[in-house]
Amino acid sequence: MKIAVGSDHAGYEMKKFVLSWLERHGYDFEDMGPYSEESVDYPDYARKVAESVAHAKFDQGILMCGTGIGVSIAANKVPGVRAALACSPEFAALARQHNNANVLCFSARFNDFETAGRILESWFGSEFEGGRHQRRVDKIEPCC
Ligand code: RB5
Repeated sequence: MKIAVGSDHAGYEMKKFVLSWLERHGYDFEDMGPYSEESVDYPDYARKVAESVAHAKFDQGILMCGTGIGVSIAANKVPGVRAALACSPEFAALARQHNNANVLCFSARFNDFETAGRILESWFGSEFEGGRHQRRVDKIEPCC
C-alpha cells in the first residue's frame, strides 16, 4: 500500500502529523509537498496527489487544506479519483466502505491531531464493501 500525501500551506503542520502517523503505522508513503509553510495554491498539490493515484503510481492519497474543501474539489477533477472530504472518523469509514474513495481529504484547521489520528485509523481500518455500492461507484465515472 503506497500513499501519496499533499497539502497546502494551511495543511502543512497537519501533513507533518500525517506523515509521522503513516511512518509509525508502517505505511509506504511519499510527501508530495509543500515543504514549507510559504503560501501556495492548493490545486497544484491536489492535482499532483490525485494524478499519482489515477496513474496507479500510488494506491491512495491523503490531502489537507484549511477546510479540506479546496483539495477535494480539485482532486475530484482528475478522472479515476474519488476524493472524499471526511468531517469525522465515521465519514472516513463510509467513504471507503460505500464510495471506494481513493483519496482522503480533511480539514487541517477544524481538526486537532487526536481527531486526525482517528480519521486515519478509520480510513485505513475500512474496506470497500462492493455489491450494490460497486454498481453505484461504476456510475460515477465520466461518460465522455
Ligand atoms: C487557504 O487559506 C485556504 O483557502 C485553503 O487552505 C483551503 O481551505 C481552501 O479550500
